[in-house]
Amino acid sequence: MSWKAIGVFDSGVGGLTVLKEIVRALPQEDTVYLGDTARVPYGTKSPETVVRYSHQIAEFLVSRDIKLLVVACNTASAVALDSLKESFSIPIVGVIEPGARRAVAVTRSGKVAVIGTEGTVKSSAYTKAIKRLAPEVQVVSRACPLFVPLAEEGWVDNEVARLTARTYLQGLTDEGIDTLVLGCTHYPLLKPVIAEVMGPSVTLVDSAEETARTIAEILSESSLLRPAAEQGNHHYFVTDIPAGFIRVGNRFLGGRLGDVYQVSLDAYHAEKGGAEDGA
Ligand code: DGL
Repeated sequence: MSWKAIGVFDSGVGGLTVLKEIVRALPQEDTVYLGDTARVPYGTKSPETVVRYSHQIAEFLVSRDIKLLVVACNTASAVALDSLKESFSIPIVGVIEPGARRAVAVTRSGKVAVIGTEGTVKSSAYTKAIKRLAPEVQVVSRACPLFVPLAEEGWVDNEVARLTARTYLQGLTDEGIDTLVLGCTHYPLLKPVIAEVMGPSVTLVDSAEETARTIAEILSESSLLRPAAEQGNHHYFVTDIPAGFIRVGNRFLGGRLGDVYQVSLDAYHAEKGGAEDGA
């Protein structure tokens, strides 16, 4: 029996932190990852643009006959998940709902903070998801855009990282929060510095871990889980030349990437459009 792969996409390299958790939870599954490195970042772009990019990528991955699509990018999950779900019939999992669920389960004080890109924070997607689950929980959110380049540069444990984290986060500790959601693919790399600034009374919630659990549940419930004795293969696509992705990616994945292939989504869609016109 042939088993279909899990498709995962992100604006670039960040989604590898989500892939890492998926592979940890489900080592038997094949995965196909697409990082939109030619158009990264998504966090500063308008929702309309991110929705358009997300649909193009989803079409590409769905054409590879995947069984489930993971929107690993928080920004894309925040603005594009609903319309993706309307357009495609396979199960689609974003990172916001799982992160929100975990935050609600963890908080004791009922005060939760969410950090993410400008796009994610502006969308209020985490706040809405948390409030849907627990209307009484108070949510404060803050954009921390400089964490993205710091994580990619590998500056996660130096004075610049510490000062940046203190500048962004210190105010949050005065708000009485006891739970902080890392609402961006890059932030798990800065976990030690963030934990240091927030102190021991604040629990950090990593959306990636909870997303992997959600995927395992969905596949199991729909009998799409590959037998545990299998060993998954992993394929990587990027939209710009692979060099930078490979250099930074090994660190984000916490292991070695396999072969990385460049794909042109424009060419893919032009070809597809042409084929459809001629059909
Ligand atoms: N992957 C994005 C996210 O999780 C961060 C990088 C970007 O802005 O594209 O929101």
